[in-house]
Amino acid sequence: MKYDFNRVIDRRNTRSYKWDQSEKLFGDQDILPLWVADMDFESPPAVKEAILRRVQEGIYGYSIASESYQEAIKDWYRRRHDWDIQKEWISDSPGIVTSLGLSVELFSKPGDQVILQSPVYYPFYDVIRMNDRKVAINPLIEDEGRYVMDYAQLEELMAGGAKLLLLCNPHNPGGRVWEREELLRLGELCLRYGVTVISDEIHCDMIMPGHKHIPFASLSEELSNITLTTLAATKTFNLPGLQTSYIVTSNPALKRKFDLKLKALSVHMAAYFAAEAVEAAYNEGEEWLDELTRHISGNAGYAISYLAENLPQVTPMKPQATYLLWVNCRALGLDSDGLKKLMYREAKVAFNEGSVFGTEGQGHLRINLACPRSILAEALERFCKAAAPYAVK
Ligand SMILES: Cc1ncc(COP(=O)(O)O)c(C=O)c1O
Repeated sequence: MKYDFNRVIDRRNTRSYKWDQSEKLFGDQDILPLWVADMDFESPPAVKEAILRRVQEGIYGYSIASESYQEAIKDWYRRRHDWDIQKEWISDSPGIVTSLGLSVELFSKPGDQVILQSPVYYPFYDVIRMNDRKVAINPLIEDEGRYVMDYAQLEELMAGGAKLLLLCNPHNPGGRVWEREELLRLGELCLRYGVTVISDEIHCDMIMPGHKHIPFASLSEELSNITLTTLAATKTFNLPGLQTSYIVTSNPALKRKFDLKLKALSVHMAAYFAAEAVEAAYNEGEEWLDELTRHISGNAGYAISYLAENLPQVTPMKPQATYLLWVNCRALGLDSDGLKKLMYREAKVAFNEGSVFGTEGQGHLRINLACPRSILAEALERFCKAAAPYAVK
């Protein structure tokens, strides 16, 4: 291995959202944080070098997007995901959640129903509710240790008037890589009922061996035409603090609306460090990503075996994508507050508590696997020891 993902880097006192808030959020600064989805690894060396070059310029003025940045994005999707996108389909946005919020505002009206598939990344709820829309929940069904879609219930929501769907592809927190047939069936319903799709594909690059990500918009021209895809290099290459993302849509009307909104909010200007970082990541970070994926896959395997041996009452979902492990802990008989007490007071670890992902997430925990093995091992040991008394009840 060229890159060492087991090197422990002390991130305390770096203004880290994950490492420097334990006292404030969980009441104890010694808590091991394996919650919010950023990684405890340095980005690829080429990214750091590109940012350093930009730093050296010394004048941090207003910036424009570059052709080479857009080329890098285009090449990445052709190489990694067999998806041909045009440069004209891309618009930058400061963040994916920003794009989701703007899309809800642009492509639905106050009071409208907007569909999500629960349990799901919690800001999906926020961007719907905070824009005065109604959350139309299409609960995912657990089937043989993985989530599948409930198409009948989905059709009812669409027939009932819901015209916008927030799709999470691949799915967070369940780690599902939606397969071609599943997406096609979903797409058929969307076309039949005139539903616009916002496909959040931020996790598309962290795909476990044996699986393949299918961009929803790549399925057909018809589906591409009803879809706005939200994407970023930030999750893949650990750059979320750079606050940069982009949307891709082949539909000029959707794109025009989106661009106008960016302009109205004056968030259309290119972030100073972002383009160089993203370009370097896509052009020179591929080997790093492949090694990282092996490390994450190894961590997932390690965690699943450790839990099976030491706390067999809980059941993790084997992730097909993402660096997140979704664990059903209902057998411990604890409600949300009980799970928090177990994590923060007794085990001194912070995973994400599942009910924030929706009612279907109750009794679950989400563990961030993007850390050195020793940190994961320590967190699991602490958790299993503290959970043991609940497991025997
Ligand atoms: C599904 C999903 N969408 C969006 C984001 C965050 O994107 P951004 O930081 O660009 O708003 C995350 C981060 O974990 C995520 O899991």
